[in-house]
Amino acid sequence: MKILITGANGQLGKCIRDISNHYPEYNFLFLGRKELDIVNKEAIRVLFDKEEFDYCVNTAAYTNVEKAESEKEKAFLVNEDGVKNLAKQCKKNNTTLIQVSTDYVFDGKKRAPYTEKDPTNPVNVYGASKLEGEKVLQEIWRKHYIIRTSWLYSQYGQNFYNMILRFVKEGKSLTVTTEQTGTPTNANDLAEAILNIITSDSKRYGIYNYSNQGEATWYDFAKEILTQTGQLTQTNLVKTDYYRTFAQRPAFSVLDARKYFSKFNYQSIEWQKSLKNVINLKINN
Ligand SMILES: NC(=O)c1ccc[n+]([C@@H]2O[C@H](COP(=O)([O-])OP(=O)(O)OC[C@H]3O[C@@H](n4cnc5c(N)ncnc54)[C@H](OP(=O)(O)O)[C@@H]3O)[C@@H](O)[C@H]2O)c1
Repeated sequence: MKILITGANGQLGKCIRDISNHYPEYNFLFLGRKELDIVNKEAIRVLFDKEEFDYCVNTAAYTNVEKAESEKEKAFLVNEDGVKNLAKQCKKNNTTLIQVSTDYVFDGKKRAPYTEKDPTNPVNVYGASKLEGEKVLQEIWRKHYIIRTSWLYSQYGQNFYNMILRFVKEGKSLTVTTEQTGTPTNANDLAEAILNIITSDSKRYGIYNYSNQGEATWYDFAKEILTQTGQLTQTNLVKTDYYRTFAQRPAFSVLDARKYFSKFNYQSIEWQKSLKNVINLKINN
């Protein structure tokens, strides 16, 4: 089995790379943006003419939610056109495409976890561009999985978890909002969940939610990070119910991942427990 991973230098790409040696029976090709720009149709064609892939996992994306508000074209170029390019080529080569999407396709007005069937209605440019990526994939190529996930963090990259640890290290006090509720998701777990789909090779195509379990506000998440790393003091974390940002965010975006867990026979993991695993990774490395 040959598997192409695009966007390989992003946090999810790196997490997949880390566990790829647990799957010696698979042949992985990891390509970062420099080696394969998914906006470049010709580069994709040349690659697929040279090599046959059973699966393509597209982790490449324009992910800056704030900047996307002023860089709408760039966001859509990667998150819609890039996915379209991959979908067309995957169809030509009979390659199953696994596309990673987001809880930000929802408007957050629901007060119970979102299922795959709930209506989408993104409230920011990033969410709108990711939703268009889902739509073009569904229109073009039947053999696909769309995995919607939320609040990704890991030992890699500029995510909320690393930002909180950096601020504390620099002696800054943190003001963190309670305005949004979601589920922090360890990107290492998502990497496992994606590989689990490939291993099952079950052809149960479609949309799936995948996140860790439970729910939290950004404030809860920050507090848990500081508590678990033994750095919470009486003064270094302040709660706010308003934090000014360019992009609007869904107030509630917890995903109901039961479809994934039942169809792929996978254990769910509480977000607090999974956070401990990421902290241990950092300590052990
Ligand atoms: N992070 C989250 O909280 C979150 C939440 C829900 C869903 N997701 C989704 O999860 C997936 C993985 O996200 P992540 O956190 O791993 O993001 P990330 O760390 O920002 O990684 C994305 C990678 O894609 C690359 N990329 C951007 N444009 C590209 C292009 N045209 N061709 C090829 N590569 C390109 C980026 O390279 P450069 O660094 O060079 O730009 C980056 O290495 C994405 O689909 C994202 O939308 C993320």
